[in-house]
Amino acid sequence: MHSPQLNIAINAALLAGKSIMRYYSRLENLKVMSKGYNDFVSEADHESEKIITETLIKAYPQYRITAEESGSNSIESEYEWFVDPLDGTTNFIHGIPQFAVSIGLCKDHVPIMGVVYDPFKNELFSAEKGKGALMNDKRIRVANCNSIRSAVFGTGIPYRKQDHSGVYIETLRTLMDEGCGSIRRLGAAALDLAYVASGRLDGFWEFNLKPWDIAAGSIIVTEAGGYISDINGNENYLKTGNVLSANLNLHQDVIDKLSKNLI
Ligand code: IPD
Ligand code: CA
Ligand code: CA
Repeated sequence: MHSPQLNIAINAALLAGKSIMRYYSRLENLKVMSKGYNDFVSEADHESEKIITETLIKAYPQYRITAEESGSNSIESEYEWFVDPLDGTTNFIHGIPQFAVSIGLCKDHVPIMGVVYDPFKNELFSAEKGKGALMNDKRIRVANCNSIRSAVFGTGIPYRKQDHSGVYIETLRTLMDEGCGSIRRLGAAALDLAYVASGRLDGFWEFNLKPWDIAAGSIIVTEAGGYISDINGNENYLKTGNVLSANLNLHQDVIDKLSKNLI
């Protein structure tokens, strides 16, 4: 049975997904604003965030909440929601149907619950600590591919200023040289993690992500039997935003090979 917190998060994600799809059906009228270099936000992001934060605050006014577009409220609490109202905005505004809503809950800075909802495909990934991971009502598990050779990885290619393009190229080169099966840049990090959880991708890595990209996806991956760390194998990925996720054996293989090439 879902906890009340998960039910509220699912409810918020479904409501936000409906709003996002209304905007998606009339993209030609969508208002898009620039937040910075290669960083865009649309009225669909804002509306989705309003729906989600209002729903969460109404149910849990005592929790801290950090949302991508509006920042954090002033509440100090051991519980903190991380909200990405529309992950994959670049896809969304280009009419590429790969985007999601991401709502994660942390307790004492550790993810304990997450929902990633793709409203286009109507796929809802969710997990709670100790209860396993689901896609809609079906239990999901990470893939069992054990080595880089023939593994299919998702990634995020750096495209904003100050991104780690040099180190990124080294990780890419390492995986290519080791004969990985293929690499996908799907464009929504929260969904990439949900795809690792459901075995669609064998692994995923990206640098410079934000906690709202990762909080929900990380608990979904770990509850699906996977592993997530930063690119050096450390556990502070939520802080650094540098993420590597896969099943434990493949994760170890990548860390071993990268440690030879990265300083
Ligand atoms: C972005 C997406 C993208 C990733 C970027 C994120 P946004 O989130 O997850 O896949 O490569 O680093 O910022 O801006 O669309 O919410
Ligand atoms: Ca995002
Ligand atoms: Ca976003």
